[in-house]
Amino acid sequence: PQQRKLMPKQRFLAEFSQCLYDFVIQLLPTPEELAIKEDVRKLLERLIRTLEPDSRLLSFGSTANGFSLRNSDMDLCCLIDSEDRLSASDLVTMLGDLLERETKFHVKPLPFARIPIVKLSLDPSPGLPFGIACDIGFENRLALENTRLLMCYAMIDPARVRTMVLFLKVWCKRRKINSPYKGTLSSYGYVLLVIFFLVHVKNPPVLPNLQQMPPLRPMTKEESHLNGHNVWFFDDINLLRQRWQSTNTESVAELLVDFFRFYSREFPYNTSVVSIRAGILKKDSKGWLSEAERGTARERNRLCIEDPFETDFNVARCVTRDGLYTIRGELMRASRILALRPERPIVALAQLCE
Ligand code: GTP
Ligand code: MG
Repeated sequence: PQQRKLMPKQRFLAEFSQCLYDFVIQLLPTPEELAIKEDVRKLLERLIRTLEPDSRLLSFGSTANGFSLRNSDMDLCCLIDSEDRLSASDLVTMLGDLLERETKFHVKPLPFARIPIVKLSLDPSPGLPFGIACDIGFENRLALENTRLLMCYAMIDPARVRTMVLFLKVWCKRRKINSPYKGTLSSYGYVLLVIFFLVHVKNPPVLPNLQQMPPLRPMTKEESHLNGHNVWFFDDINLLRQRWQSTNTESVAELLVDFFRFYSREFPYNTSVVSIRAGILKKDSKGWLSEAERGTARERNRLCIEDPFETDFNVARCVTRDGLYTIRGELMRASRILALRPERPIVALAQLCE
């Protein structure tokens, strides 16, 4: 059989990088979509204020962190700036009733969930071909902060960081390994894997560690902490751009190839924890040994990703043994496809996201 010649590596990487940029650009939300979403947010805020006049409705998650794909869902968080406010579960019930009466949304209040939320959806229409899906939560201030942290990371090097994250979000959705309910990983988890890789694995690093940079002035605990968690990070991006410049010049394709290699073959899943705050940590130092090692059948802590602020919280807690096996299989598949360096890099991209 005739041996297919590998494309020269440098040429493949340059062309594949361009492919990634072109691919990701067409998946960004359109200005119309963003405008509609902002209108929906304002409408919902107006309605909530009839129940709680001192409330604000803020956007978090991908719509606010720079990692949004077209037609992604909206994550909204209601903050109430008054002392005597309704409980989250009462608010969820009342807001559910109100939205049912006053809007065309399908409404599903979940007042007794661990985090009470109202789920909303709007059917597709000519102006909104994919409809809208939206969750409204309450007082989730930590989520607003981690959204801001991810946004700052996205802004430091948008070309490489956003392209990598957006591509991986599409990849994990297409490969069906992005469902915490089915034992695989949330989008938030994947974003943390990318940031960890760019801060702690790449040498020289592509991103600085924003949580470990010295503050510009001394901070009191009151200023730096929220609900007992240290949420401080260096967020003056303009200043950072003047003072910090990565000496890593790898292209987005090189970074992606190395990302797949690292997480398919190198990261020690059995013993280690991904922490963007502190680098690689040991499971036993956090008391996060997997239940299997403790002799129970529950599946938790197979994959460990420390939340940047809620450090006792494993963002990947839903990943099961089978889920992790599937995820690693997909990472290896991706590595293999890229190692073959097909003559037309667009073919590699199509295969990756098949
Ligand atoms: P898409 O919805 O797929 O576009 O991605 P996304 O960036 O919105 O991520 P996702 O829906 O997984 O999460 C939305 C936001 O919820 C994240 O940006 C976090 O702020 C928060 N969040 C999600 N999962 C967790 C979690 O396990 N722990 C914490 N603390 N926050 C989470
Ligand atoms: Mg989301």
